[in-house]
Amino acid sequence: MTTGDNTATTQDAGRRGRGKSAAQGRQDWTSWPHYDAAGAGFRGYWYPVTWSSHITGDPQPFTIAGEKITLIRDSGTAYALHNRCPHRGVPLSEGNQQFPGTVSCPYHGWTFDLPTGKLSAVITDGPGCRLTGKLGVRTYPVEERLGMVWVYIPVADEEPHPIDEQLPEELVGNAFVMGGRIEPRGGNWRFACENGFDEGHAKYLHRTALWRLFKPMPTWNITKVVPRGRWIYRVQQEVHWEADFPGVGRWTNKRWWKMQPPKETFNIGNTGAPKQLNPVIEDQDFPGFASLSMPGVLRIAYPKFIHYEFYVPVDEDNHRYVGVMVNFTEGWQTLGFYAKYLGAIRWLFHGQFSGQDAWMVDVTDAPPEKLYRPDISLTAWRNLSEEEYGKKLADLGTAATGTTEPTTTDGKKA
Ligand code: FES
Ligand SMILES: [Fe+2]
Repeated sequence: MTTGDNTATTQDAGRRGRGKSAAQGRQDWTSWPHYDAAGAGFRGYWYPVTWSSHITGDPQPFTIAGEKITLIRDSGTAYALHNRCPHRGVPLSEGNQQFPGTVSCPYHGWTFDLPTGKLSAVITDGPGCRLTGKLGVRTYPVEERLGMVWVYIPVADEEPHPIDEQLPEELVGNAFVMGGRIEPRGGNWRFACENGFDEGHAKYLHRTALWRLFKPMPTWNITKVVPRGRWIYRVQQEVHWEADFPGVGRWTNKRWWKMQPPKETFNIGNTGAPKQLNPVIEDQDFPGFASLSMPGVLRIAYPKFIHYEFYVPVDEDNHRYVGVMVNFTEGWQTLGFYAKYLGAIRWLFHGQFSGQDAWMVDVTDAPPEKLYRPDISLTAWRNLSEEEYGKKLADLGTAATGTTEPTTTDGKKA
């Protein structure tokens, strides 16, 4: 896979697999082996888990990239531990804190040190317990950004890269206000991610969304995918607002009560060329309004705000949806954003509009699949992930793939 694949225009979509069996389409994803193996997520990345305010001294269970973890806060710091007591396998998230800086299993009181995961006391075996200090549970690196707790899921036992290298660049070093929604959703994380960057569906699936009530959606587009840095961008080349389908009829989403579609093709905002851009957004000089990066981070740039989606892998059949709306303002203007967010955006966009996506992600069933021209967005993403993950593994000097590695109860690689 080369970077050149990402620059391919729509003309190239579907070239792969063309030939005798072209009508049947692709039977599997073996042409993207890392991606294919990453059903439970790509290891070696930071993932947002939940809101910081939800993590307290009461341990809570989460599954991220197939790893069962418990999150707990002590003296202001959040910790992540493997959520399984090595004694009899009871989740530590069922327990609580008996001493500062520790968590105790509810069954027999095995007590673990939060920073290291080491067994620091065994309440029901007395102070002389010989296991103390000899074993423990795996711990995971934790950071807090955007009001959320992030956990690093390692490929092996490597040190994590700095989390800021993985965040969208404009979220590091700029002041902003944000609102968001985190929810567990059905469907594999890759379907969610592919849906987020999918060129084809928004104009059709979301044409009924109230968020789009007064705004027309195109009928079809010609789009190319452009790479820049670690992101790929969808760039509109042609936008068609109506079309005659031979032998079938005319189709358009234009209605008398909707705004008239703009004359020119535009690439920030998806319903018209903006009159004015927020200066931080303008500075980014995005080539297109939808962009995607590893390990499944979608960025939709509007003239005055940016919407992000993080598709957090849980297991083969479930993911966590993290949707965040960011406005790069400070001071009294933030009040306007909160009013607008709580009054409309949260419900219309993060709710109903995004609910249509959740529905599709839950019912998608691929491969097999027969891709069509707009699916250049999907193949460009798979190529990007394949290439980036290959590089990551090479840097780590391991042949491991995205699959979950077995770990022993003391957290060491089996
Ligand atoms: S199972 Fe955890 S202390 Fe026994
Ligand atoms: Fe969508």
